[in-house]
Amino acid sequence: MKFELTYHKHDVVVVGAGIAGLYAALKTSAKVDTAVLSKVYPTRSHSGAAQGGCAASLGNMMEDHWEWHMYDTVRGSDFLGDQDAQELLVREAVPVMYEMEHLGVPFDRTEQGRIAQRPFGGHFGNFGKSPMMRSCYAADRTGHAQLHCLYEQCVKNEVRFYNEFYALTLIIKDGVCQGVVAWDVNGGGLHVFHAKAVHLATGGYGRCWKITSNSMANTGDGLSLVMRQGLPLEDMEFVQFHPTGVWKHGMLISEAARGEGGYLINDKGERFMENYAKAKMELAPRDVVSRAEQTEINEGRGIKGQDCVHIDLRHLGKEKIITRLPQVRELALKFVGLDMIDSPIPIQPTAHYSMGGIPVNLDTQVLRDTGKTAVPGLYASGECACVSVHGANRLGTNSTLECAVYGRIGGIKMLDYVCKHPGHDDLPEDAAEMAREEIEHLLSTAGTKSGVRPVELRDRMQETMSENVAVFRQAEDLKKQVGICQDLRQEYKKVAIDDGGIKANTDLIEAIELGHMLDYAYMIAQCALERPECRGAHWRTDHPGRNDKKWLKHTLAWLHGDEIRIEYKPVVITRFQPEERKY
Ligand code: FUM
Repeated sequence: MKFELTYHKHDVVVVGAGIAGLYAALKTSAKVDTAVLSKVYPTRSHSGAAQGGCAASLGNMMEDHWEWHMYDTVRGSDFLGDQDAQELLVREAVPVMYEMEHLGVPFDRTEQGRIAQRPFGGHFGNFGKSPMMRSCYAADRTGHAQLHCLYEQCVKNEVRFYNEFYALTLIIKDGVCQGVVAWDVNGGGLHVFHAKAVHLATGGYGRCWKITSNSMANTGDGLSLVMRQGLPLEDMEFVQFHPTGVWKHGMLISEAARGEGGYLINDKGERFMENYAKAKMELAPRDVVSRAEQTEINEGRGIKGQDCVHIDLRHLGKEKIITRLPQVRELALKFVGLDMIDSPIPIQPTAHYSMGGIPVNLDTQVLRDTGKTAVPGLYASGECACVSVHGANRLGTNSTLECAVYGRIGGIKMLDYVCKHPGHDDLPEDAAEMAREEIEHLLSTAGTKSGVRPVELRDRMQETMSENVAVFRQAEDLKKQVGICQDLRQEYKKVAIDDGGIKANTDLIEAIELGHMLDYAYMIAQCALERPECRGAHWRTDHPGRNDKKWLKHTLAWLHGDEIRIEYKPVVITRFQPEERKY
């Protein structure tokens, strides 16, 4: 089978239609021809699942300052975040929040009509000393509200949307990015998108774990696209487990539930956070709370000895639950059949957020080495990128913020770049060769009796990642997982699908996604093995304590065939020197 190629030309192509991608597209589309490719319908992007809020030191409920927000972010990151990027994030948070308000995001309001703000884990006042209400919110559907607003604004700006288009390869010629090749999922067919600038905003990659809050679409495609061009990924060992995933399912009971006053309770009926973070209790950062929960579970104090504890919101009362937490109440009703108004809800840590990703500079340009060398024409922002503002552990509601701030910056910087490049460079001769080979190969396996089915490999990857690369880690498990990933990658070469059709072939897409997941799961396990210390969400029981002398540095990893090569680069420290982290 030989596919005809369909060609498109745009100034800017954004891959991914979450908050980061849409903000970037909104900025470029003000002046230049902009297209967005999205593998799902844009308003179904995973940003829509972001519940609790978006942080900014507006000071609408109590005194607040960007320096306090920065201090919390630096400390939350266990000092691995780059402080120049963190400063930009928290300073820009304020104007960006007002810009979003003016664009039409329906934030909840104070009685005076200002944007309402609520407490969230790890956010405090006066350099960690007092409680803080910093997270701007729209009930517990904040990401949904932001996503829909940005989508409407992009439609208004005549952004060209290619919905259900799945990006397969980047087009890089002489080191310069010139576009992207994508598969039209619904209609079938290969499409070449010729662009002056490409922006990757493909989101997170939690789907390589069994229990995750991430949507089905979060398979790290952007990461794989970058890795396969011989470019590095940064800090892949740092993956956050959110403390309150619905037991056995993984989707979130928002941290807003604890922000509003929810308790965590073990089988003995104790508020166990008292033993782990006496001062901040349930509002300690997520890495601290997830480890506390996992310790309770491991030591037999999970509910009825099972792998869950309870979140108890009954004391908040019906009205607060219905007005502030309507979505999470509905989730609990649907997935565990319990109403949080009169029942505690079983929860467990769930793979939620990836602090690492595609290395970028402050302008969101993708970097190719441990220095400052950028790939001209290639940009990335949001969860797929690592700028790095979250370091070893992200604070709640700093994610939608990062998407907005850096997606917006990316748009502004791309616009600048594109305006300086009046013409498109020539495309390479067969820009779609790699993508075509992959598609043709997989379709040729359809219906063969031999070969392994993608779902079999996927289940093994997810189960073993959950066992071996979890809240607590140790060398023995990590080594085992590296070996498992190597084996799975070999077996993947024999993968065969059942559906040989061209249109709406989800079998084909899932097989490609699996290839992506195996690439980065391997990298996560290897990078975690290579860092023998405890920092943020990366907790090595065989190497207690943070080791700033040796490990205050970022990991950069390259995938060369079956081998991973690792180098390191220094952390940018400006205002706050590393200190002990107690909550
Ligand atoms: O718990 C939550 O609502 C999640 C927020 C976040 O990850 O920032």
